[in-house]
Amino acid sequence: MSIAYGHNSASGLSPVPFYRPRRLRRTPALRRLTAETRVSAANLVQPLFLREGLKEPREISSMPGVYQHTRDTLRKAAVEAVDKGVGALMLFGIPEHKDPQGSGAVDPDGILQTALRDVSEEVGDATVVIGDINLDEYTDHGHTGVLDADGDVDNDASIELYAQAALVQAEAGAQVVAPSGMMDGQVRRIREALDAAGHQSVAILGYSAKYASHYYGPFRDAVESTLTGDRKGYQQYPGNIRESLREVDLDLAEGADMVMVKPALAYLDILSMIAGHVDVPVAAYQVSGEYSMIEAAAAKGWIDRDNVIRESLTSIHRAGASQIITYWAAEFADSLDR
Ligand code: PBG
Repeated sequence: MSIAYGHNSASGLSPVPFYRPRRLRRTPALRRLTAETRVSAANLVQPLFLREGLKEPREISSMPGVYQHTRDTLRKAAVEAVDKGVGALMLFGIPEHKDPQGSGAVDPDGILQTALRDVSEEVGDATVVIGDINLDEYTDHGHTGVLDADGDVDNDASIELYAQAALVQAEAGAQVVAPSGMMDGQVRRIREALDAAGHQSVAILGYSAKYASHYYGPFRDAVESTLTGDRKGYQQYPGNIRESLREVDLDLAEGADMVMVKPALAYLDILSMIAGHVDVPVAAYQVSGEYSMIEAAAAKGWIDRDNVIRESLTSIHRAGASQIITYWAAEFADSLDR
């Protein structure tokens, strides 16, 4: 099109490059001016873990730099992340005792509810506090729901428990709840329960397009989960594309306020598609395995850690994520010019 217009020599070839895209890449100031997308601290969500009964914070062996917190250090980590400018905190609880029903998830004094209460009290007005709704941290079999007589995850019984979990989390101060169990109808059941209890203003972030990914491996260490079997019966097959549209549409019809694609880097095509498909905020979760791979390669001196982190987050943002959940949220927010 316009590239050929009027600038060629008689031979049809310009003697020197006439178009020079490099002009705009020449100086840091020009590059800064012309950057199309840029991650900002406010877009970043910091996951934090509170472990019941812990005396000292414990580093997660497969996620160097990420900790299971005590109540005391959780408060400090929350304040630090907020001071660095992150947009939200996403809290996870690890109970001391797990059981087949995952009863810690629905206990008003359960560990996640304690975390939500503590963090809301400490920084609730200065940030957005998000609770993960699931049972896998609380069940001894490690599945995201309760099992039926055949050992399959019982969808409808599980979403009743999610609804109860949403209520105790809302009571404890969650401003957003994020159901991650991939049970059918979970968003609707949670919305109904929240509304019926007067929690109309608590928002739902659906883990809408959540794949059965092996990138979640280190998270299992983080929450001390030993899974019997796998999650392929409820999380999505990595090769599927259209199924994500269906999941996202269902979540929106059921009342989700925001949707999520998870994992992030290996699913940028899905993220880009969903971002073009919906009119709500689209989040992406840069999951534990994504974190650990970069940390491990950096520890070996094989990659430039900080720049690879920056590139990965920029790419996730460019692909269409308006919010990014990342274990580097606070550190990265701190490195940005605000
Ligand atoms: C469910 C949940 C998981 C993650 C976030 N919420 C685990 C799973 O679904 O298997 C994974 C996050 C990560 O890998 O960083 N409670």
